Amino acid sequence: MPCRSNKELNTMVISAKECTAKGKVADYIPALGKANPHDLSIAIHFPDGECISAGDVQKKFTLQSVSKVISLALVLMDRGRGYVFERVGMEPTGDPFNSIAKLETMAPGKPLNPMINAGALVVTHMIKGTSVADRFHRLLSFIHELANDKTINLCEEVASSEFETAYLNRALCFFLKQHQIIDENVEELIDLYTKQCSIEMNCLNLARIGLVFAMDGRDPQSGRQIIPIDVARICKTFMVTCGMYNASGEFAIKIGIPAKSGVSGGIMGSVPGKFGIGIFGPALDEKGNSIAGIRLLELLSKTYKLSMF
Ligand code: DON
Repeated sequence: MPCRSNKELNTMVISAKECTAKGKVADYIPALGKANPHDLSIAIHFPDGECISAGDVQKKFTLQSVSKVISLALVLMDRGRGYVFERVGMEPTGDPFNSIAKLETMAPGKPLNPMINAGALVVTHMIKGTSVADRFHRLLSFIHELANDKTINLCEEVASSEFETAYLNRALCFFLKQHQIIDENVEELIDLYTKQCSIEMNCLNLARIGLVFAMDGRDPQSGRQIIPIDVARICKTFMVTCGMYNASGEFAIKIGIPAKSGVSGGIMGSVPGKFGIGIFGPALDEKGNSIAGIRLLELLSKTYKLSMF
């Protein structure tokens, strides 16, 4: 358990920052290419309301793939697990997040899990509502509740930058449509998905969301059960098995906590029953995970014996 010292956390951030030079900011979404590769910040949110942090924690970043855990929680609540897992699987792939390979060779009608792009697109497709705007609003309101912050919104610049360049995600959608897994207009689904990925927040917000998952879906401050226990458990299990893409196995061995990364450099961590973690470090390793963020989690896990295993 961390000794709740900002100073100690700051020392770890300084040490982990050294490896930012070996990473690279994502630029396949052009607007993400503007990030400063040397940034690194972290917040840890405890159930009693205390929060410790280090680095420029006010700096905002977009959720990108971290949003996949949140949209999964929403559709599991909306539709139930039978409906959801008829359409998306539960198995890790060992492939990069945007790969189309397994969709064709293993399960044409069903993406292998909700953390790869093919599966996440199916999940976003399942968000209930009467229009893209209505469905986005429902997701955003859910995030407001999880983070206890109604000011969170999307970054228009990142949303339109991704919408204009999401050729591979469009290809995945057309493949899924051909196999009747989705039946909506592809442009509308890409619009909703890119808006979902462009929801913007800081590390403090992300740590607060991680905390709700860590506490089995209960908001420790209000006592409200925001996410049913079984849904929170499913989400955390996916974070362990597929949260860091094709680096999830190594991450489980070296760090051993449920976590989800995004190409913006965000990582949400949930240490079961203990605390939530929000990290922002935009320099990525070759698998698309924050290079310094992972180093920082390694230091934290070793120092405070956080591994669940
Ligand atoms: O679909 C995409 O390519 C992005 N919006 C999200 C990808 C992502 O964050 C994968 N992360 N490692």
